[in-house]
Amino acid sequence: MTASDCRNVPVSYNNSAAIASLENAHEYALVFEGDPVALINDTLKEHPNFIMAHCFKAAMLSQAMETRIYDEFAASVLAAEALWNTANQRERFHINAVRAWREGNFFGAVQHWEKALTQYPYDLLALQMIHLTDVLLGDVAGLRDCVARVFALWDESMPGYEFVLGFFSFGLEENRDFMRAEELGRQSLAIRIKNPYAVHAVAHVMEMKGRQSGGISFMEYHRKNWAETNFANHLWWHLSLFHLDNGNIDRVLDIYDAQLRSSEQSSDKYSELDAAALLWRLKLLDIDDGGRWADLADKWEASAADTLYAFNDVHAMMAFVADNRRDAAETLINANARYVKHASDANVAMSRDMGLPFCLALQDFANGKYADCVKRLMPLRYTTHRLGGSFAQRDIIGWTLLEASLRARNFHLGLSLANERCSLKPTSGQNWHYIARAHKGLADFDRARYAQAQANALLVA
Ligand SMILES: [Fe+2]
Repeated sequence: MTASDCRNVPVSYNNSAAIASLENAHEYALVFEGDPVALINDTLKEHPNFIMAHCFKAAMLSQAMETRIYDEFAASVLAAEALWNTANQRERFHINAVRAWREGNFFGAVQHWEKALTQYPYDLLALQMIHLTDVLLGDVAGLRDCVARVFALWDESMPGYEFVLGFFSFGLEENRDFMRAEELGRQSLAIRIKNPYAVHAVAHVMEMKGRQSGGISFMEYHRKNWAETNFANHLWWHLSLFHLDNGNIDRVLDIYDAQLRSSEQSSDKYSELDAAALLWRLKLLDIDDGGRWADLADKWEASAADTLYAFNDVHAMMAFVADNRRDAAETLINANARYVKHASDANVAMSRDMGLPFCLALQDFANGKYADCVKRLMPLRYTTHRLGGSFAQRDIIGWTLLEASLRARNFHLGLSLANERCSLKPTSGQNWHYIARAHKGLADFDRARYAQAQANALLVA
C-alpha cells in the first residue's frame, strides 16, 4: 500500500508516525522555530530508511551556503542516494535536486524540485525549496512564478496553505505587485499569526512603498510572534530600516546592540549578514560605529576564503574593509579571483559578475577612492538581482554608489541618483537629505534649502 502525507502526496516509507514527525519538523522550518534538522535527526535515528526525511534534511542544510555545514549536507545527500532503489518518483526528483546542489548546480536543483512540484502540486517542500532557492539565486520572476503555477489548486482546506500565501506574497512584492502582495500576506497572517515569513513579506511591501510609520507599527504589533523565532534577526533588520529612513539613529543603534550584536562566534551567516548590512548603511551616513565593526569582522574572518556564496562574501567584505582588516580583505579577494577562474558551480557567475566587483568597490570606498568605487558600481546597478537576496537588501549597492558619487564630488551624478531614489521613495528623510547635499555641491542653494527643509520635516529631530 502506498502511503501519503497530509496533503496526499505519496511517500514510499509506509509509517504514519514517521510521516507525522517529518510534517512536524517541516512545520518548525516553515515558522522558523526550533531546530528542524535536530528534529529530523531524531526521526532518522528510529527510521534510517525514511527517504523523504533524508531529502528534507539535505534540502534544509543546502540553504545554509556555508562551509561549516557542508559535510553534514553532503552526508545527508549520500544517505538519500543510497535509498534510490526504494524511492518513488517524487522522492527521486528530490534526491536528484539535492544531488545537483551538492555538485554546485543550484539551478539544476531547482529544475528537479520543479519536476516534483509540476507532478505533485501539493508538494510543499518542493515549492518551498524552489521559492527560497530563487531568492538565493536572484531569480526574481521565478520566486513568484513557482507559486503562481500551483496557487489556483490550493485553498484553505489544504494544510500549509498559509505558507503558500506567504511565499506568493513575497514573490509578488519582489515583482512590485505591492497591493496584492500585502493582501495575501495579511490573509496568511489571518490564518496563522505566528508566521514570520508573511510578516516579512508585508514588511517588504512597507519598505518598498516608504511606509515607515506603518511599518514600525506593523512590526511592533507582530513582534511578540516573531522576536523569538529563527527569523528574528532579519526582521529586526527590517524594523531598523524604517527607523533609518526616519533618521532615528538612536533606535537603530539600540536594535543593533540588543538584537544584532550577537556574541556567539558560531552564529549562522544570515545573522551576520543583517548586522553587516545595517552597519554599512550607518557607515554611509558617517555615523561612528563605536567599535561594532571589530566584533563583527571577528565573526566573518573565519569565512574569508569560503567562496560558497557571493552574497555572503560581499557582507564579509563590508566588515573587513570597515574594520581595516587588509589581510582578510585580500584573502577574500584572492580566494574569489582564484575561484572564478577554476570553479564551475552556479555561484561562479554571481561571484564573477557581481560579488567580486562589488567587493572591490567596497574596498575602494573604504580607502577613500570614491571615483573608482563609482566606476565599478555604475555598470552593475541594473544587474544586481544576480547577487541574490531581495531588492531591500541589494539597495545597499545603489546607496553606496550615491554616497560615493557625492564624496567623489561628482554632484551631477549624485543629484540624478538622489532624485531617482527620492522619486521612488519620497517619504524617506534620508533621500531628501541626499538631494540637498547634491544641490549644495552644485551651488544651487535655493534648491538645497528646499530639499533640506523636506528632509527636516521627515527626519526625527
Ligand atoms: Fe527581507
